[in-house]
Formats: sequence, C-alpha cells, structure tokens
Amino acid sequence: MNIVLVGFMGTGKTSSGKSLAKKLKMKFVDTDEEIEAKAGMKIGEIFEEFGEPRFRELERDEVKRVSARDGFVVSAGGGVILFEENVRELKKNGVIVCLRSTPEKIFERIKHDSHRPLLNVSNPKEKIRELLEKREHFYAQADYSLDTTRLSVDEAADKIIELLKKEKRL
Ligand code: S3P
Repeated sequence: MNIVLVGFMGTGKTSSGKSLAKKLKMKFVDTDEEIEAKAGMKIGEIFEEFGEPRFRELERDEVKRVSARDGFVVSAGGGVILFEENVRELKKNGVIVCLRSTPEKIFERIKHDSHRPLLNVSNPKEKIRELLEKREHFYAQADYSLDTTRLSVDEAADKIIELLKKEKRL
C-alpha cells in the first residue's frame, strides 16, 4: 500500500511526507521531483516552455508510474487531484490524505519560493484564496484530511500515523 499526500501548495506534502516515510521506514517519492528529473527541467520551465496542459500530461504519466509501485509515501503535486483519472489510479493501491492549511499560512510558507508558476502573479494571496475555493470539492475526494496550519513537519507526520492507525489503515 502507498500513502498519498495531496493538498494545496504549501500545506507540507513534501516536507512532512519525507518525515512520514522515515518514521514508517517506507520509501518516498515526490511527483514534481520525478517530473523535473525526467524532463531535466524545473516545473516553472516546463510551464513556460510547453504550457500547463503538457505539464499535466507528464504528471498523469508519473501518477500512473507511482501507483504501480508499492510501499511508498507519495507527495503528489497540488493539482494531481483535479483529474479523475489520477484519483482513480492513486486509490487503487493507496490511501489518500489531504493536507490543509489556511490561505494566510500557505502564503507565509510559499512567499519566498519562486518555483510555483501558478502563484507567480501580482497578487498571490488573492490567487491562493481563489484556487483553494475552486479546488475545494476536488480535495474533498481524499480519504482523510489533516489541518497542518499549526503543525510542524514532524508533528504533521505523527498525526498522519495516528490517524491511519486509528482507521486501521496501518
Ligand atoms: C501545482 C502544484 C505544484 C506543482 C505545480 C502545479 C498545482 O506542486 O505541481 O506548480 O496545480 O497546485 P506542490 O503542491 O508540490 O507545490
């Protein structure tokens, strides 16, 4: 079984995913990192050069690949869950946990990063609110969800373990 972390940018999927994998002695994979390694380009460059639709294709291929593997903590890019096919693939062999945070906290976490093309706009705070609202019903498809607004990376990982144990998924 895989544990798949979904959720908006800046909710801690990659950082707490790494911690979670370590604690559970599972392997870790991040869809964005895999896409970048295979393309030899940064996500921002892929968006710029080929556009978002091409990025989504690469992402879908990556989701297929990780869903065929077992024993991974998967950090899925924030838009993975927007596509039904991705959700279907990931659920085949995984439990999906959505990480959530307030727009303010998300902004605080991402404001120094320049590698998130969707938030590379003049008013990122507004954009975060807008996208969160648009995406809410997609994120609601996850099996479980956890608010990481006030949690450290390690605390979030511990909470995920607690949650999955309680639900007998671990
Ligand atoms: C995206 C989130 C990013 C990355 C890309 C698009 C999104 O991943 O896949 O910039 O649509 O929410 P993170 O959530 O890991 O930042």
